[in-house]
Amino acid sequence: MTTRRTMLAAMAGATLLPAGFAHAANNPKAADLAGTPLKEIARRKGMRFGTAIANRKDQFGDAAYRALVERECGIIVHETEMKWQQTEPAKGKFTFEQADEMNAWARDKGLELRGHNLFWQPEKWLPGWVVKEDFGTQPGKAVEALMRERVRTETAHFGNQVVSWDVMNEAVDPETGKMRENVLTKPLGAVEQVDLAFRLAREYAPKTELVYNDYMREDAGSARHRAGVLAMLHELKKRGTPLDAVGLQSHIGSWDESKKSKADLVEWRKFLDEISGMGYNLLITEFDVNDRRSPADITVRDREVAAQAKDYLDVTLSYPNLRDFLCWGLADHVSWLQTWYEAPRLDKLPMRPLPYDGHLKAKPLREAIAASISAAPARKAMA
Ligand code: XIL
Repeated sequence: MTTRRTMLAAMAGATLLPAGFAHAANNPKAADLAGTPLKEIARRKGMRFGTAIANRKDQFGDAAYRALVERECGIIVHETEMKWQQTEPAKGKFTFEQADEMNAWARDKGLELRGHNLFWQPEKWLPGWVVKEDFGTQPGKAVEALMRERVRTETAHFGNQVVSWDVMNEAVDPETGKMRENVLTKPLGAVEQVDLAFRLAREYAPKTELVYNDYMREDAGSARHRAGVLAMLHELKKRGTPLDAVGLQSHIGSWDESKKSKADLVEWRKFLDEISGMGYNLLITEFDVNDRRSPADITVRDREVAAQAKDYLDVTLSYPNLRDFLCWGLADHVSWLQTWYEAPRLDKLPMRPLPYDGHLKAKPLREAIAASISAAPARKAMA
C-alpha cells in the first residue's frame, strides 16, 4: 500500500532515484531508501557511512559535489591530503593547509574524520626525502626517531578530530603474501616496524581507533594476499601490538585475470571470520567497483556493478564488528580509477565504479548500497 508518507518520501527523493530504476518509484521500500541519506540508513543500524574526498576542483572545490557529500555522509577521509608525501614534502617542511581547509568544513558540517594514513609501505608512496635519508651508523635508532617524529607531528596537528587512524597501509605484498620491505623496515625488520608504528600511534593518540588497512579482495587472485595479511595479524597479536581494527579497502571488481566464482565469498567469509575471531573490528575503508570487464552498455554495466556490490556487501556488512563503511569517492567522474594505470578499461570508456554518475545522479549502485545497509543486522550503540 502506498501511504502518504512513502509518497512524500518518494517525491523528496526524486532527484536521488537512479536513472532507469523505475521500479523504485513503485516499491515503497526502495523509494524510501532512495529518499533517505545513506548516513541515516547507516545510523539506524548503528553504522557510519562516508566517503573519501580530495581538495581538488571537482570534489571539495565543487559546491554541488560538496553538498552531495554533506547530504549522504557522516564521516569523511582525505583521498591524499593527510599522506606523508603531502604533509611533509621536504624534511621538516609541513604543508597542512589543504587538509586543514577540509577539516574546518568537516567540523562545521558535523562530519567525522578518519586519518589516512601514518605509514604507507610501498616505497613509491614514501616521500622522496625519506627514501634518500642517510640513517647513519645506528640506522634502527634513526628510523625509530623518524617514525616517532612522523606520528608525533601528524597526531599533534590533527588531534582529536581524527576518530580512527590508518596507522599502517598495505604492509603485505599481494603477489607473495610476504611483508613488504622499504627503507624503514630494513634496519628494524618488517613486522617489528609495523609493530612500532602501532605502538607510537597508541602513545600519541591513545583514544583513537588504530587500523591496519589493505586491499586484499575476495577473489582467488587475492588468496596469497589474504593469507599474508592473516599471518601478519597473528604475529602482531602474539606481540601484543595495539591494533584495534582491520580496514578492508574493498576495491572490488575486475583487477586481474582470476575468474569470479561463488566460492569467492565463502573464502571471504573465512577471512573475515578469522580476523573477527582474533578480536579485531572491521571497516570498509575505500569501496568502489572496477567495471573494466563489464560491457560498454551503461545500463548493463551499472546493473552488473550493483549486483556485484550487493553480493559483497551483504556478506561483509553481516559482521556486527563492522561499523564504518566508506566509499573511495561518491561520483564516477572523481574516481581514481579513471586514471589509475594498473587496471584500465580496454575500450578506454570512462569507468562507472561509484554510486553516483558524473551528473551527480544516483545509480543502481547507490540503491544496492542502501539495500545492503538496510538489510544488515543492527549494531549495539557506539561507545
Ligand atoms: C590513491 C588516490 O585515490 C590517488 O588520487 C593517488 O594518486 C594514489 O592513491 N589504496 C589507498 C589509497 O590506500 O590511498 C589510494 O588512493 C588507493 C588505493
